[in-house]
Order: sequence, then C-alpha cells, then structure tokens
Amino acid sequence: MTIRPCVSAPVPATRAWNGTLVRSRFFDALSLLLPTGEAFLIETLESWRAAFEPMPGDELGSEVDRFIREEQAHRRAHSLYNAALIEAIPSMQPIAERANAITAELAHFGEPMKLALVVAFEHLTAVLAQEVQSHRFLLVQDESRAARLWRWHAKEELGHRHVAVDVARRVGLKRGTLTLALLLATGYLATDLMRYTFALCRCDVHAGASRKTMLVDCVGFALGAVPSLMRMSRHWFGLLLAPSRGAH
Ligand SMILES: [Fe+2]
Ligand SMILES: [Fe+2]
Repeated sequence: MTIRPCVSAPVPATRAWNGTLVRSRFFDALSLLLPTGEAFLIETLESWRAAFEPMPGDELGSEVDRFIREEQAHRRAHSLYNAALIEAIPSMQPIAERANAITAELAHFGEPMKLALVVAFEHLTAVLAQEVQSHRFLLVQDESRAARLWRWHAKEELGHRHVAVDVARRVGLKRGTLTLALLLATGYLATDLMRYTFALCRCDVHAGASRKTMLVDCVGFALGAVPSLMRMSRHWFGLLLAPSRGAH
C-alpha cells in the first residue's frame, strides 16, 4: 500500500509542539494510527472476555473492563487530537483516512493470533510509554495539551500493561503464537510509524517548511534516539522472557 502524495494548497507549518517538526510528526503519526488500533484491542478483548466467562468477583474480568474503558477514552482523545491536526494542515486528511484502515488486514487472523497481537501491541505501547515516562528525549516536558495528552496516555498504558498478558495466560495462549505476534506487531508498527511520519513531514514541506531544516532535524532525531532505541530493545525481550508481565 502506498500513501498518496500531499497536493493541497500550502498552509503555515506551525505545529512543532514537540521541539521540532520531525519529532512532533513522529507522535502525530502514532496518534493517527491509534484510534483504529485501539478499536482492534477493544474488540478482541471483548470477545475473549466473553469466551473465558469471568465469575462475579473475578479480578481479571474487572481488569479487562478497566482496560476497555481506558482504551475507549484514549480513542476519543486521539480522535480529537487527529481532528485538530487535520484542521491545522488540511492536506493531512487523506493520510489520516489511510491510517484508519490499517487494521483491516488483521481481521483475517484467527482468534488466538488476534489475542496474541493485542498482547504484542500492548507490550510495544508499554515499552514506548516507559521510555516517555522515564527519559526526556522523545517527548518535551512542557505543559502543552499535546504533551500532557501523551503523558496521560503513557501513564494509563503502564497501569494496564498486564491485562492482555493475563488474559492470554488464562486462556492458555501458546508461546510460539505470542513470539510470532510480537515479530509481526513490531514489523507493522515500525513500518507504519516511519511511513506515516514521512508522509506528514512531506505535507509540512508542501506547506512551506524548509526541506533542509527538516532533514537536519530528522538526522538529529535519529541519532539522538539511539540510546532510547537501545533501552527499548532491551525491554522488547521482556515479553518473551517474562510472559506474565509486559515491559519492566
Ligand atoms: Fe491506549
Ligand atoms: Fe493499552
């Protein structure tokens, strides 16, 4: 699937809320992917919750309910965030529409693989959330609405990171399925994040941002993120080494 080029009229590129445009677009691209991704998480856990039939007072049943409530809140918040992004740069609309369809191919997987993918995506989210919460490189530490939204989301992801793993253990999900899902989810997320970040940056160039400045920002971001990537790589293995919990 290719992402169509940005062709609409230029508008001022003024949305560098995260220090630089490139660093901002990295999070903006992630936000575009979240509403549909979180809908997939919610639908999958809802169907597995029905399958394992928690008894009244079963703590895991309440934890799944909390997980679903929190992911629904994230979906609403990121839908508003994405609407504001498109209002500021209308040429991003087709990119957002493409992002809304990214989970369509996941519908073809069987139920165990869907649950394994939920565990994997939640683990990846927790790894990123841990990095955002513990280190200052990826996300600015100011009080802008966008930065506060990301910090709130990171905190809730870390708070419910164990839920999908516990459901997988309850229903006896195989380690091999989980390993395959983690590889698939990592490939999907890394590829989509890069492609959509690039597509949004291209919109900024069409809207008047300096290509040279963005290239310099991009190189600076990539080099500066090496320590973050090394830490996150270490946590990435946590799911396979300690299947009862996500990133630590
Ligand atoms: Fe979330
Ligand atoms: Fe989550």
